[in-house]
Amino acid sequence: MSAATAKLEFNGKTHELKVRSGTVGPDVIDIAALYKDTGAFTYDPGFTSTASCESEITYIDGDEGVLLHRGYPIDQLAEHSDFLEVCYLLLYGELPTKAQKDDFDYRVTRHTMVHEQMSRFFTGFRRDAHPMAVMCGVVGALSAFYHDSTDISDPHQRMVASIRLIAKMPTIAAMAYKYHIGQPFIYPKNELNFAANFLHMCFAVPCEEYKVNPVLARAMERIFILHADHEQNASTSTVRLAGSSGANPFACIAAGIACLWGPAHGGANEAALNMLSEIGTVDRIPEYIARAKDKDDPFRLMGFGHRVYKNYDPRAKIMQKTTHEVLGELGIKDDPTLDVAIELERIALTDDYFIAKKLYPNIDFYSGITLKALGFPTTMFTVLFAVARTVGWISQWKEMIEDPHQKIGRPRQLYTGPTVRDFVPIAKR
Ligand code: SDX
Repeated sequence: MSAATAKLEFNGKTHELKVRSGTVGPDVIDIAALYKDTGAFTYDPGFTSTASCESEITYIDGDEGVLLHRGYPIDQLAEHSDFLEVCYLLLYGELPTKAQKDDFDYRVTRHTMVHEQMSRFFTGFRRDAHPMAVMCGVVGALSAFYHDSTDISDPHQRMVASIRLIAKMPTIAAMAYKYHIGQPFIYPKNELNFAANFLHMCFAVPCEEYKVNPVLARAMERIFILHADHEQNASTSTVRLAGSSGANPFACIAAGIACLWGPAHGGANEAALNMLSEIGTVDRIPEYIARAKDKDDPFRLMGFGHRVYKNYDPRAKIMQKTTHEVLGELGIKDDPTLDVAIELERIALTDDYFIAKKLYPNIDFYSGITLKALGFPTTMFTVLFAVARTVGWISQWKEMIEDPHQKIGRPRQLYTGPTVRDFVPIAKR
């Protein structure tokens, strides 16, 4: 059977475009030769209908609310796996054997310390600097310390850089938190697993033994798993575009952190909790629902809606369950923000506006309540998202660098500015 094609009638000519199918999900119409053949560009600001790459890592079905990492459903990974096992899966494509897992855990654990000189960076920031600003700076600076893993053409250096980034992000994040609250840095402890080590670095103090609560550590692992990767979202696309120029992986991840910070993306968890706190009580919800529907009001329900999910974000359901587990373990009975969140979700899911626009809670809707209960300030929420998403960014970066057809990303435009005109001396303006 001949390969599927799509026909385009343009300027009196018929052009045949190749159609390619993935293993699952929408077909793609290959337009790589369109400009050469027709002299025209496609136009898709926001890339709502554009596949920017071919990938084997994560599949999302927005209508069905499905999220698979290398084919494994997110709910099964959240239930049965741990974060470093999901990291291995995202990086290498298969679940590890026991020996592979032990080796991977060993390698990551022994890269968790940062160069001691890096602690000097923090003193350059004000204590009240937003931790995401600190993360952008310090993670970008990793390329100033680890020259021996910046040659992206060397598979060994690519692997070392990947391990270093996964391992050091929680350490740097915990340092950003400790600096923010004026407490001394706490070194990683090799006998702790990924999430327990992170909680220890954030909440231990030198004056006394700190015992990590295993229920909270498990919840933290699950939160990291839920945030690990998510197809070609804005920050992942930023990392891919930065990497396509040959920039070193540390600089690319710093670019991803900067993009994630936006309130429309990873910054939504901080914005969602601030919104729930601003609403304050259940009786004020209708006022905010009305504002969210008002075309003239820029207000949006943070933690609601998604470019891909036109159904419930499967991660949000697991996040909601984790929220109740954490609040239960901590004996938090009546959290007003949780009451507002549950009632806001109930109202929004029955409101014609939200139903018509297929707006459902996304992962950021409940995560803030959980992270606040775990003891983090709202300014740290997106930092935690970045800690988890680093493995997704670096896995997608690795896949792009290892693609033999990879080339620098360079989109074009629809130009609507002035046509050519001569310079006018200032005396004649
Ligand atoms: C993440 O891409 C990813 O995968 C991201 C992410 C990941 O894991 O990497 O899943 C993480 O970023 C989750 C999204 C977090 N952001 C928020 O919660 C911020 C609030 N949500 C919105 O800003 C919005 O829903 C976006 C940005 C998430 C998606 O925006 P789109 O796809 O560009 O959709 P849109 O802005 O064109 O909205 C479609 C319509 C509009 O109304 P009309 O102009 O058609 O009349 O829905 C409305 C919007 O006004 N709408 C909302 C709304 N989100 C969309 N109205 C009220 N409240 C909202 N939250």
